[in-house]
Amino acid sequence: MSSQTLREARKYEEALAKLISKEDRPGFHLSPRVGWMNDPNGFSYYNGKYHMFYQYYPYEAAWGPMHWGHAVSDDLLHWEHLTCALAPDEFYDKDGVFSGSAIGLPDGRQLLIYTGVMKRTVENGHLKEFQTQCLAMGDGEDYEKYANNPVLGTDAIPANGNVEHFRDPKIWQKKDGSYRLLVANLKDDGFGQLLLFKSKNALNWEFEKVFAENDGSYGLMWECPDFFELDGQGVIFVSPQDMLPEGFEFHNGNGNVCIIGDYDDATDTFVPKTFQAVDYGIDFYAHQSILTPDGRRVMIGWMQNWDTSGAHDRNLPWFGQMTVPRELEIKNGRLYQNPIRELESMRKDKVEHLNTVIKGDESVLDTEGHNPSSRVYLDGIEGRQIDMTITIHPENVEDIYDKFTIGLASDSKKHTDVIFRPKENIVKLDRKFSGSRRSIVHQRRTKVPFNNGEVKVRIILDRFSMELFFEDGAYAMTATLDTDVSAKEIYFEANKNVIIDVTKYDLSDN
Ligand code: FRU
Repeated sequence: MSSQTLREARKYEEALAKLISKEDRPGFHLSPRVGWMNDPNGFSYYNGKYHMFYQYYPYEAAWGPMHWGHAVSDDLLHWEHLTCALAPDEFYDKDGVFSGSAIGLPDGRQLLIYTGVMKRTVENGHLKEFQTQCLAMGDGEDYEKYANNPVLGTDAIPANGNVEHFRDPKIWQKKDGSYRLLVANLKDDGFGQLLLFKSKNALNWEFEKVFAENDGSYGLMWECPDFFELDGQGVIFVSPQDMLPEGFEFHNGNGNVCIIGDYDDATDTFVPKTFQAVDYGIDFYAHQSILTPDGRRVMIGWMQNWDTSGAHDRNLPWFGQMTVPRELEIKNGRLYQNPIRELESMRKDKVEHLNTVIKGDESVLDTEGHNPSSRVYLDGIEGRQIDMTITIHPENVEDIYDKFTIGLASDSKKHTDVIFRPKENIVKLDRKFSGSRRSIVHQRRTKVPFNNGEVKVRIILDRFSMELFFEDGAYAMTATLDTDVSAKEIYFEANKNVIIDVTKYDLSDN
């Protein structure tokens, strides 16, 4: 039985989504059916399809009382919107159906587990928020909330934990058939911890242990945990709030972290070894992963940043996108990520320029912004929905370039630059001339190891985003773009002669 609140959301989204044309959406990145989208939720494979749910407020392109939007796909690139899956319609989730995860049950139903948010007036008259973990079961389209919700109330939180910050449950099933659940919680000391719960049937849960905790080195509260094993290692994903930057990592305030460690399945023990940023760009948060039927670990993140996501017109028909799905590996102790291989089947119209000299012009060292005289354009290298790989090396290794720029999404006024500085081993992403009227948080730099000035980058552009993968996926940088899609020129600039190999494909969304 669907509630009035859910029926209204479904009616509203159906009517409004019709007004959004295909061209006004990303080509292959998931966007909300209508209104606002944040975190990926319930990312799963169920009944032969990939399912993605998402934090959703259909009525405005702004965060509001959270629902779960829902989409399905055969290849994680072509998405079909389904009707809103969950609405805030019970006393225990009346103030929001927050983030969570999904799994197939042995009886064939799909289980969604999410955080119910309820505000209540407490003794001193203040409104206090309570977060609990709740279930809903369904057939892949319609879901019924569980009669015994919440299945984990605030009494399940250990004594040092805060009841207002107990959220984002991630479920998985162990080889012995039992279930585990990782829930983010804030400790009294102001730092996050990840609580591990166990269950035999995914319905009745009991606290097992603190699985991992923040000693204060990585932000404050940890949101949206994920855990999986990959290439012989245990891996935790978290999205810490209020991070302090460290060198070139963790610059976004609300950041993204991958913790690689030793995991013992018999005792559910995780011992962290290394912490790294997952994405070094501007827009990446709340990343979640899935194991595909053919055994690949694939991750998708929310392609936004809480600190810039308020600076848009709330009357837009939609706001928020997911990243391209990325296949993960661990190599040399680091997380590597590359666009899912299915993307290659969308490639068409290959254009290639091999061994092409980009003539150096010293003036690029002191100009910023529009400098038409130093821009080099190559035949057929343009577009806003492309997959382009570029290998860059100096013409003379004895006298390597200081600065090489790839200008994207450009026209006579606008451009977004990827700037390579091999002598400092730095790459900078700069979208301050992308057309935004808020040129504040628009640059990000990252360390990328160059080899005598040589480096490789793969660039995935969709209509409203750019994703950069350096050195075969060792580093990624992601940013959304507001630039009109008509700005599709691509140019190159260097202060000394540089030789590049460019291979570019258009990505067809048919
Ligand atoms: C992370 C987050 C989650 C929460 C959700 C609410 O972006 O704050 O912790 O469940 O968004 O929309």
